Amino acid sequence: MRVLGIETSCDDTAAAIYDSMTGVLAHRLFSQIDLHQPFGGVVPELAARDHVRKLLPLVERVLGESGITPGELDGVAYTAGPGLIGALLVGAAVGRSLAFAIGRPAVGVHHMEAHLLAPLLEDRPPEFPFVALLVSGGHTLLVEVSGFGCYRIMGATLDDAAGEAFDKCAKLLGLGYPGGPAIARAAENGRHDRFKFPRPMTDRPGLDFSFSGLKTHALLTARAQELNDQTVADMARAFQEAVVDTLVIKCLRATDEAGCPRLVVAGGVGANRLLRQRLEIAAQRKGVAVFFPRPEFCTDNGAMIAFLGYLRLIAGQREAESFTVRPRWSLGELSPVNREL
Ligand code: KG4
Ligand code: ZN
Repeated sequence: MRVLGIETSCDDTAAAIYDSMTGVLAHRLFSQIDLHQPFGGVVPELAARDHVRKLLPLVERVLGESGITPGELDGVAYTAGPGLIGALLVGAAVGRSLAFAIGRPAVGVHHMEAHLLAPLLEDRPPEFPFVALLVSGGHTLLVEVSGFGCYRIMGATLDDAAGEAFDKCAKLLGLGYPGGPAIARAAENGRHDRFKFPRPMTDRPGLDFSFSGLKTHALLTARAQELNDQTVADMARAFQEAVVDTLVIKCLRATDEAGCPRLVVAGGVGANRLLRQRLEIAAQRKGVAVFFPRPEFCTDNGAMIAFLGYLRLIAGQREAESFTVRPRWSLGELSPVNREL
């Protein structure tokens, strides 16, 4: 079965083709970073308009690279939420119409479920059950995953998402957008003992997160300094370490609480090298196996949408000939799927 996946929930236009026999045939992404850079964050209306411009050429490109015609597709999957409504509507309209034109089923999928299942695209996929840390620009969630579609939220951020905190801290340090990779790069030249930032909510039980205090701490620290290159690097290092330590502590707490020796880390912040290194080490000590998608499948991509679309299509899910999107959509609302993956 061959499924086209379309992702337009935020600022990346992405398309991919997944073949159930051979895996991902082609995946391409057009990033809108340059478009949003001057504003220091994503401008929803500009994002939607750029998806309109970029999506069809991208779909044509992945079809060409896969060497297949639209008629050889068995279905089309698109991100139906959560995300920016205008951006979501572009992908949903194109995906639904394309499926209608070729007489194949369409399925609207949950963006975070796609992130969560992305490690199953790798050579060494995790078995169920597992605990997942979903860390992106819009979400920071710990989820107990007992099967396909069976998700229990164990903890979530009470305010900013981890990626959002990276983006805001980068902005105040003048490092540009997106902040995660910019902070990680600047931190390479930072000294480890100059600043010590708090590890929010790690000193009390529970699996929730809060990153807004850390952001305020960074702001107050920045105001008290002259922001030269070395200070920016030192602050970037202290900030990254604080976020990473916090995530590591909560992940291991969650695997303990769930009594589960498998941890999946997905979402854009999952591409962070320090997080990957620290988690590997800390998890190994506790006998927990950690699974990451490859970095380009941590951040938004079409492959995870095509793959989840395939899983949902073979489980019998289909959209009517109308479509809808859901800017707000909790993972906990999804229903279990009675099917082996
Ligand atoms: O999953 P994603 O691509 O889009 C959303 O669904 O939000 O995540 C984007 C977020 C941004 O906040 C970005 O700064 C962060 O992921 N990010 C990183 C890294 N790469 C992307 N954060 C820390 N380190 C990275 N290397
Ligand atoms: Zn995402």
